[in-house]
Amino acid sequence: MFVLDDSLIDKIQQLKKQRRAVILAHNYQSGEVQDIADFTGDSLGLSIEASRTDAEVIVFCGVKFMAETAAILSPKKTVLLPDKHAGCPLADMINAEQLIELKQKHAGAVVVCYVNSTAEVKAESDYCCTSSNAVEVVNSIATGKEIIFVPDQHLGRHVAERTGRELILWPGYCITHIQISVEDIEKARGKYPEAVVMAHPECSESVKALADELLSTGQMLEFARNSSVKQFVIATENGIIHALKKANPGVEFIGASEKATCPNMKKITLEKIVWSLEDMQYPITVAEDISNKARKALDRMVEVLPGK
Ligand code: 13P
Repeated sequence: MFVLDDSLIDKIQQLKKQRRAVILAHNYQSGEVQDIADFTGDSLGLSIEASRTDAEVIVFCGVKFMAETAAILSPKKTVLLPDKHAGCPLADMINAEQLIELKQKHAGAVVVCYVNSTAEVKAESDYCCTSSNAVEVVNSIATGKEIIFVPDQHLGRHVAERTGRELILWPGYCITHIQISVEDIEKARGKYPEAVVMAHPECSESVKALADELLSTGQMLEFARNSSVKQFVIATENGIIHALKKANPGVEFIGASEKATCPNMKKITLEKIVWSLEDMQYPITVAEDISNKARKALDRMVEVLPGK
């Protein structure tokens, strides 16, 4: 087992040099994929890294909208997604036609799309945001403007609450985050009364109401790093627990639910990364007109709110 993994890791390192590639991995990837990555992070951090890298090839260990975002931000680079079926059901819950129809119903409204959206939806949006900066993006929009927020209704409600703005929401949701239930949090609270509960804003409103902190994955890492708390319950995709433990030895991180495992994120494996680099599969490209329009929404996010 170890021999096999070691040889896979060696092979990845060798191919990476040969292809002049960089490996970016989202915090929801498996521990072994996170460990071989050159950069791990949340959606915002990965977008920034993709726009800055001077590597020729970006192997994106995440889901399709993330690889698309990298391709939009770095149009001259080759972006590879090691499994072409690693999609995001949330991103697919609204398409460009549906957004255009919504915009027609609310003429003059500013459109903010969550980064978990297709390139076509980004192209129809004024601003993009991630869960790290959604509140700041909405706060930057002139008061009095109507705001459409797509596609995640749960993140949207969180942003509406934090900003005091009324948002026109779309009924999208993350199939993984909504698996985390009120019972999961209550059970964890009973078992670990001293623990701080951190939840992702994509969780349901009833789960969020029971959490101590509502944070993106990057913010969870930052919060744990700056805290003296020794026990946390984590209500988001369980891949983040690897990153949290690695960065905070001696601190206990307990997943709120075993069901919080994203089947798409976990499609990326070390073997597939090897195949990806060997065969340059699967290239993710975005049509130029869509890419140019979508980049404006992404640039606004990165420029106005560069994150931490
Ligand atoms: P973060 O931006 O917090 O990493 O979240 C990304 C995501 O896809 C959540 O489902």
